[in-house]
Amino acid sequence: MSKKRVLSGMRPTGTMHLGNLEGALRNWVKLQDKGEYECLYFVADWHALTTDFEDTSMIEDNTIEMVIDWLSAGLDPNKSIIFRQSLVKEVSELHLLLSMITPVGWLERNPTYKEMIKELHLKPEQKVYGFLGYPVLQAADILVYKGNVVPVGEDQLSHLNLSKDIAERFNYLYGNIFELPEPKLTQSARIPGIDGKKMSKSCNNHIPISASEDEIYKNVESMFTDPTRAKATDVGHPEGCVVYALHEVYNLENAMQIRNDCVNGRVGCVDCKKDLAKHLCIALEPIRAKRKELDTNPQWIKEILEEGSNKARRLAQETLKEVRKAMKML
Ligand code: TRP
Ligand code: SF4
Repeated sequence: MSKKRVLSGMRPTGTMHLGNLEGALRNWVKLQDKGEYECLYFVADWHALTTDFEDTSMIEDNTIEMVIDWLSAGLDPNKSIIFRQSLVKEVSELHLLLSMITPVGWLERNPTYKEMIKELHLKPEQKVYGFLGYPVLQAADILVYKGNVVPVGEDQLSHLNLSKDIAERFNYLYGNIFELPEPKLTQSARIPGIDGKKMSKSCNNHIPISASEDEIYKNVESMFTDPTRAKATDVGHPEGCVVYALHEVYNLENAMQIRNDCVNGRVGCVDCKKDLAKHLCIALEPIRAKRKELDTNPQWIKEILEEGSNKARRLAQETLKEVRKAMKML
């Protein structure tokens, strides 16, 4: 029996930060190394267009930078199929076919869509058709490779549910072609940004996974701590302190002690930060070392993506044959 498939993608946001690492990458690498699944990981560059269609100049560089970080974090093109969404044109055909059977109401009710429309303050001409159809393209991404298990963060659950609904509707209309993909929620600690909000590049509150030791120290120095604390002897409140949240991830064995010292006014924030920076440097060292070892020239990364896309395309072509036949569109 062939292995079940793990499939996931990320929009090309350029270099990765700690949130990407703990929220997705570590899990991708774990699934890859376990060997239980065939793993497919891709750069969702078409999806990037839904919000960035006015200026597409960064997509290429961001793709390359992101994949360098994927490899530095341990993804391995010899173990996983690492590819670029837009190099497999079969996805666009499946997207078109699925768009014919997806009720608009499903898309309009999608909570992610509603939130994004509110948050991004989009002008009417920016509320494009492709943005509404984002989950249809995502469904095509998953179904074209018959992905069984889709590791994602909680924010993607509504998209995954739509993918399942679309697959079910296809099966109901044309016959059982698709197994329903299952989301696999990444169990990970929440990584707050430097300012305590969710870590993201657009908020500029992130720590890059390839940060140098100097940068790590500087980033940690500027982290938000307990605002009620002026002196080291003041009673501290570790809950709500970014430094503490990161100790719990990168210095777990000492976190209890730090909590105690903080609430009893026995450690100052400056020392507490230095301690965290030290542990972060240790945790990120293997990634930095791997990056040095890698040949990070863009041409090589492009070749990896092309080879991966060739492998992915073969799988997609098989599926499209079945789909066309089922739909009598031969
Ligand atoms: N929407 C996902 C995100 O923003 C990226 C993505 C696109 C994806 N297609 C996918 C994730 C298919 C999993 C499966 O993170
Ligand atoms: Fe945060 Fe550490 Fe300062 Fe406590 S001592 S508030 S945990 S930085």
